[in-house]
Amino acid sequence: MSEAQANIGVIGMAVMGSNLARNLASRDGNTVAIFNRSAEKTRAVTAEFPDAGFVASETIEEFAASLQKPRTAIIMVQAGRATDAVITQLTEVFEPGDIIVDGGNALFTDTIRREAAVRATGINFVGAGISGGEEGALLGPSIMPGGSAEAWETLGPILKSIAAVVDGEPCVTHVGTDGAGHFVKMIHNGIEYADMQLIAEAYDLIRRGTGKTPAEIADIFAEWNTGELESYLIEITAEVLKQVDPQTGAPLVDVILDQAGSKGTGVWTVQTALDLGIPVSGIAEAVFARSLSSKPAQRAASSALPGPDGDFVVADADAFVEDVRLALYASKVIAYSQGFDAIVAGAEQYGWDIKKGEIAKIWRGGCIIRARFLNRITEAYAEDPALVALVTAPFFVDVMASTQAAWRRVVVAAAEAGIPSPAFSSSLAYYDGLRAERLPAALVQGQRDFFGAHTYKRVDQDGTFHTLWSGDR
Ligand code: ATR
Repeated sequence: MSEAQANIGVIGMAVMGSNLARNLASRDGNTVAIFNRSAEKTRAVTAEFPDAGFVASETIEEFAASLQKPRTAIIMVQAGRATDAVITQLTEVFEPGDIIVDGGNALFTDTIRREAAVRATGINFVGAGISGGEEGALLGPSIMPGGSAEAWETLGPILKSIAAVVDGEPCVTHVGTDGAGHFVKMIHNGIEYADMQLIAEAYDLIRRGTGKTPAEIADIFAEWNTGELESYLIEITAEVLKQVDPQTGAPLVDVILDQAGSKGTGVWTVQTALDLGIPVSGIAEAVFARSLSSKPAQRAASSALPGPDGDFVVADADAFVEDVRLALYASKVIAYSQGFDAIVAGAEQYGWDIKKGEIAKIWRGGCIIRARFLNRITEAYAEDPALVALVTAPFFVDVMASTQAAWRRVVVAAAEAGIPSPAFSSSLAYYDGLRAERLPAALVQGQRDFFGAHTYKRVDQDGTFHTLWSGDR
């Protein structure tokens, strides 16, 4: 067996795992132990990156022996059963005080379960959300670790050394206990779904309303990326729209099949939000839009359904593009506001002390939703940690004041033109729902009392009331 010479280990040598191991190895003072179920992959990675100085093992026992105590290992294998299998293996060779980190995309309830089971053996278990894809893993991701405060003491400095850095601050913080990290990573992915859908709707509206080419729209996104909307997703959208298909010479976006896939984290976000009773309508519409896109039979059968007459051509293309930019900004604020509402509700439900401002901070770099305006979110929560809805912070009220008229024009134009804009329009409906002094929920309560004697409350008296409706049976 090899000597205990590594201070950190990584299990799983697929793309994310090997990149994270290389990132760790590139930081001063780290010696990285590596292990993969199939040894060929471990050998291949060791051979491909000799400078990393990896300490490679072909058995889990050897891997454990190669780690200094307390041992720390980051699991980077497929979420689900593979993760459980590796945790079981590790608990057999690790000792109390050691730390197992799951850096995969686990469902937070699995992390809560695993943390409790591993903790019972005296070993620490940390579920850590890692965002940023392949490049982030290699160069600096945004990391959202849960788990105990003791584990964070050992793990914190290591994670800080490999995370993305913005304004001198590493994009990692101890999010909360047990599944808090994976919960926040899940919400991050939900917001990412909404943001991507909003950008896609903006592109579609501009293209169909102005007739601009994808390359021209790429320039618009590149321009937007110099202002309030500056973000990784806007930046890569410009790149995607610019791309030409080498086989046909057509814009690549026109030859890509228009059926969006997913790995399920958006669905988890919406399912969780439904359970928590939090309207994350922007995220939900983004998930539904992907589902609808992936129903070719229904779409084909519906192509003859009537739509509006005439072509959609806007009178003033520049003004329309600016309206769409403002609608995108407003809807994006709503998506984040809804995501943070879900974080607040999750923290309350599961007993996590999550600092919202810190979350916005660690999302500023490394991760897919990194964006300039996250600074404003951090400031909003710093000013008022008990903010009941992010969109009501003074800065965002000002954003709404300067965007809402354009947002409405865009939603009207989309509806009249028959262009689907589910995320734009549902975000606007949510916004108006928040604003409304009276909601027709009063009528719903009346209906519920009518058919089910579910009772209602009154605006002018305390207590619970039931009406003997004329139709009472
Ligand atoms: P990525 O997205 O980074 O490319 P992934 O598909 O999430 O990778 O995970 C693949 C990794 O999970 C591989 O390291 C794989 O090991 P093998 O190379 O031996 O296939 C690992 N993995 C999958 N199932 C596993 C299991 N039951 N036990 C251990 N490792 C497993």
